[in-house]
Amino acid sequence: MAASRSDPMNAEPDLDARCRALVADLGLGTAAEVASVTHLTGGVASDIARVVVHGTSYCAKFALARLRVAQDWRAPVHRSRAECAWLSRAGEIVPGIAPKVVGYSDPLQGFLMEDVSGPDIYLWKTAMLSGASRGEEAALVAAPLAQIHAAGAAPGFDRHPFRNAADFRAIRTDPYLRATAAHHPDLAPRLLDLADAIDAATTTLVHGDVSPKNILVRTGAPVFLDAECATMGDPAFDVAFCINHLALKAAHLPANRQPLLAAMHAFWASYASGITWEDAGALQARVATLQPALMLARIDGKSPVEYLDDATRAHVRHIARALILDAPDTIATLTARLERTLTP
Ligand SMILES: Nc1ncnc2c1ncn2[C@@H]1O[C@H](COP(=O)(O)OP(=O)(O)O)[C@@H](O)[C@H]1O
Ligand SMILES: [Mg+2]
Repeated sequence: MAASRSDPMNAEPDLDARCRALVADLGLGTAAEVASVTHLTGGVASDIARVVVHGTSYCAKFALARLRVAQDWRAPVHRSRAECAWLSRAGEIVPGIAPKVVGYSDPLQGFLMEDVSGPDIYLWKTAMLSGASRGEEAALVAAPLAQIHAAGAAPGFDRHPFRNAADFRAIRTDPYLRATAAHHPDLAPRLLDLADAIDAATTTLVHGDVSPKNILVRTGAPVFLDAECATMGDPAFDVAFCINHLALKAAHLPANRQPLLAAMHAFWASYASGITWEDAGALQARVATLQPALMLARIDGKSPVEYLDDATRAHVRHIARALILDAPDTIATLTARLERTLTP
């Protein structure tokens, strides 16, 4: 029986209707056969709901045209097609690394995927912020990321679904790096060069949002979500993006600073052993140069980090600026300098 739309646990009417239409469009049942639609909170870029039909629970995801962030940030809704393509392709390369895609609906601009939830499943970010994780998952996340990058760089990889350079620019290099350059005129040449180089690269399949808030951990193995930035691009972006989150957590959580900085290292070591497509030293230098720029972007770009207090934000700004002006070329140098400067 269809759930009542006045049920407070239910999605708002529009999302409820879209989820029912999605189920019908994908041929899983009629709109009336959907037993429940529950809005999941947490997403800033999309509407996500848990949808139960014929006793099976799925997740439905629809991209939002305007992101739920303080600044005006618009992004094309067709990016959910790129997300679906990444989730499917990554799951072929590394089984279990992404929720299984049930189907994508062009008219509804949304898709249905496996519901990855249960008592033993946690979000990596939540675990780190609560102190339950001190970054131990880093190596587990890095290894499959390298496998995906290796597969995406291989000859014969079907690049067609991932020609998303314009979207990547709109939702990554513009709001992060170019927006930050506008706040720091003295650093602008460096930040704009970085942004241009990233936008020009087509080396491999990049996820584009490898953040602990987009990584579930299921029986000790990561499940990557939220691939709507997926593009052919520079693998250094994914690595720098993820270790940047560890650096920001290290700034935020003094008690876990050492293990979180060590986790940046562990991430790199695990990832580096899977680099097959280019010189590891060159990639490492790009990561070490980009991470401080992304760190500054989380202070002064369009997607500021929400958990740092004012004093820590100012301190991170200062550290990031110094690392951009005098860029390290190895992860060891980067983390050593972070360690030295984060603790006053
Ligand atoms: N397939 C899924 N199974 C279980 N939970 C999911 C799934 N997809 C998303 N979620 C939940 O919704 C949250 C937001 O999803 P995400 O894809 O990251 O959306 P957004 O693009 O809005 O950030 C995730 O942090 C997770 O808690
Ligand atoms: Mg997300």
